[in-house]
Amino acid sequence: MFSIFSFNKNILDAGMLSGMTDVHSHLLPGVDDGMGSAEESYQACRYLEKMGVKRIFLTPHIMEDLPDNHPSFLKQRFDTFVENNPSGIEFRLAGEYMMDNGFDGQLKEGMLTVGDNYVLVETSYMAASPDVPRMLYELSVRGYCPLIAHPERYLYMPLEQLLALKDRKYAFQMNLMSLAGVYGKDVQKRALFLLREGHYTFVGSDIHKLSVYQRALSALSLSKDDRKALGILLENNRNL
Ligand SMILES: [Fe+2]
Repeated sequence: MFSIFSFNKNILDAGMLSGMTDVHSHLLPGVDDGMGSAEESYQACRYLEKMGVKRIFLTPHIMEDLPDNHPSFLKQRFDTFVENNPSGIEFRLAGEYMMDNGFDGQLKEGMLTVGDNYVLVETSYMAASPDVPRMLYELSVRGYCPLIAHPERYLYMPLEQLLALKDRKYAFQMNLMSLAGVYGKDVQKRALFLLREGHYTFVGSDIHKLSVYQRALSALSLSKDDRKALGILLENNRNL
């Protein structure tokens, strides 16, 4: 029988993390503001495995302020991390590139990609460098597809400006924690809007601390339609 009631369901109860590929995480320990130690990271991995997560892209911040984080150093840290990993999760190394003054140098060195050619990029939360459109263009002419990390968090950017990036065929990645309200009501509202309008391609946890992520997941309940929209992103993640 048709019902006018649409009940929200918690995403863990709905089993939505089962089989998940996560495209954005700060689980590689000791390289950025994410997990501080291997022990902390492995504890998080054991939890994520229990929730059904199968594959995770480790995307440490790559930015001017973290000069050690170039691909060869990160690959070394990644190999050690994977070698000692106690969970059954499969890991891939990528990066979250800040579009700052160091970006052009990174581009010359070669980018760590999510899948074959997506490059996860971010801007500051205060204001974007006026050079951002050029950097995004440089990526695309080199055969990469810019993947804008958590666009819902750039509240300084008017919605029209954000959507103009979609017109250029750049892909958007939503943070699950945005939907849960971790970054405030305005970000949550924008994430829901972009999700419902079909503007996202991928979804990531952007996990830095396990306790914050666990709280967010417990608080995250979605309607049937929103779960369906999220399901499409999770399927895109799996196909990477
Ligand atoms: Fe991140």
